[in-house]
Amino acid sequence: MVTVLNHPLITHKLTFMRMQETGHKDFRENLDEIASLMAYEVCRDLPLKDVEITTPMAECTSQILDTEVILVPILRAGMGLVDGIMDLIPTAKVGFIGLYRDEKTLEPVEYFAKFPKELPEGVCLVLDPMLATGGSAIAAVDMIKKRGAKNIKMVCLVGAPEGVKAFTEAHPDVDLYLAALDDHLNDIGYIVPGLGDAGDRIYGTK
Ligand code: PRP
Ligand code: URA
Repeated sequence: MVTVLNHPLITHKLTFMRMQETGHKDFRENLDEIASLMAYEVCRDLPLKDVEITTPMAECTSQILDTEVILVPILRAGMGLVDGIMDLIPTAKVGFIGLYRDEKTLEPVEYFAKFPKELPEGVCLVLDPMLATGGSAIAAVDMIKKRGAKNIKMVCLVGAPEGVKAFTEAHPDVDLYLAALDDHLNDIGYIVPGLGDAGDRIYGTK
């Protein structure tokens, strides 16, 4: 399932992220706020369990989350989505995948992996602002599936149609959430209109 979260607040904040004159501080702040808004929708189907509680008025049955949530940012740019989601799910655990895209081949190259032990039982939210060719997202989901992850959602900010096609063909069992579906990839693998290089814009490199 592919869900494009066409929400006015998300679209408004994303417009400021796209503008080339937006500096890294404002870019990061808008990304953080969008991450929280996306988390609200992405977590809509998390499982709940009954608990017996006592309010000031009476005993009753109420519900709390019945799963570990594991955030898996793809380094570097995926880190930009972590804090905004953590604001809503402060008990979330975090695993890390280090991948970069080789600038010539556009193939993802793995350089780091570290996950909490609950990875196989939890709901894993794999985070990366950009889904361009889809190579990095596909490799990241391959990596956590190999380590036993079963319940996986892929959360991206901007996707290209080429990346959406590749990802959904490679991992038809993984729900994909986007804040926006853009027009196309250019000949060096950048999303158009996109927002440029997300990692560089978050961290002020280049
Ligand atoms: C960017 C982005 C994705 C990847 C998307 O990362 O954050 O991880 O490219 O491209 P793809 O869909 O074609 O694989 P980059 O390799 O620039 O690394 P960075 O996050 O360290 O900047
Ligand atoms: N990675 C980015 O950061 N931006 C793009 O447009 C494509 C890949």
